[in-house]
Amino acid sequence: MRMLVQLLTGSRVKRVSELVKQLILDQIQSLSAYHVQPAENMVKLDAMENPYELPKHLKQPWLDLLSTAAINRYPSPQPKDLIAQLRTTQAIPADAQIMLGNGSDELIQIICMAVAKPDRTVMSVIPSFVMYEQTAVITGMKFHGVSLQEDFSIDLEQMLSAIEEHQPAVIFLAYPNNPTANSFAREQLLQIIKAAPGLVVMDEAYAPFAADTMMGEVLQHDNLLLMRTLSKFGLAGCRLGYMCGPEQWMSELDKIRMPYNINILTQLTAEFALQHTDVFSAQAEEIKQQRHVLIEQLRSQTNYKVHDSQANFVLFKTAAGQADRIFSALKLRKILIKNLSAQGGLLDQTLRVTIGTPEENQLFMQALSDNPETV
Ligand SMILES: Cc1ncc(COP(=O)(O)O)c(C=O)c1O
Repeated sequence: MRMLVQLLTGSRVKRVSELVKQLILDQIQSLSAYHVQPAENMVKLDAMENPYELPKHLKQPWLDLLSTAAINRYPSPQPKDLIAQLRTTQAIPADAQIMLGNGSDELIQIICMAVAKPDRTVMSVIPSFVMYEQTAVITGMKFHGVSLQEDFSIDLEQMLSAIEEHQPAVIFLAYPNNPTANSFAREQLLQIIKAAPGLVVMDEAYAPFAADTMMGEVLQHDNLLLMRTLSKFGLAGCRLGYMCGPEQWMSELDKIRMPYNINILTQLTAEFALQHTDVFSAQAEEIKQQRHVLIEQLRSQTNYKVHDSQANFVLFKTAAGQADRIFSALKLRKILIKNLSAQGGLLDQTLRVTIGTPEENQLFMQALSDNPETV
């Protein structure tokens, strides 16, 4: 009897596998899902989150506001007050159209879906945010990444000739870039925007920690969109990204957006947070201060190659064959960072640590010095 059940279950598993193989698009079957590391009970320094919670004095007013949410109703598809607040607090040009996304991940998806044709190419630099390539592939397009130089700057000549060759429908550029943490030269970005035959999306996810912004360029070009997120600012759990640009582009892209993509709790929380931008700006300042401290400590106490940062994380390179070992040793000490070494190329032997609270950073530094390089 047991064997019969096993046989039946086995043949069902086989049938399901065959059906999946037949139906799911080839390009999706060949992908791996975005991997999120388990982080329970860890000092979490792996995902560029703001380590500070909402301050105590704001918790009750925030909860009071949430208690007014009409959770029995669909949320507003165009929350006017929130959009107006974003415009004023983020200095978005008056005539630029604003669109909200369930995180900027969703906005990347919307842009790709809008232009997806099998013979089209999405471009970016390598290494950069992995979702540009992942989303291009999922939507059936080709992806071409132009390698950054050793110092993580853009090889403009290579970039311009790749644009000429591949005629990309979209170029995504993170400013500052993840995972290299640097900001590209503004002049080069302007040349890329000028040379691009299609859209250029400037992704300013790390704007709260950066010295420069391209916001002033929005509406100065026919093909420029600018995207940001509230995730790094302090609301990663809420999932709110936004994008701005000329009305003609945005009204087409808006047809792809699911009408109720931003839930009511996120809408209210984001509005509340933007009414207290001073609190979040002070947190960003503290993170920038701690970034300076951590970089100095890493440079004075270790032999790693420690890169400058315009973001809320620091990238460092260990000696040959050390990154995996150090990453695992930290994990045993319950300190979770990101090991990028397997991506190879410029990221070989490279680890990325998010700036935490001063206490978390010290735990990280202590664990590092207890596990020195063995070369
Ligand atoms: C450059 C860049 N863009 C976008 C995102 C995604 O942000 P969100 O949380 O808004 O989806 C990230 C997340 O790490 C990122 O590094």
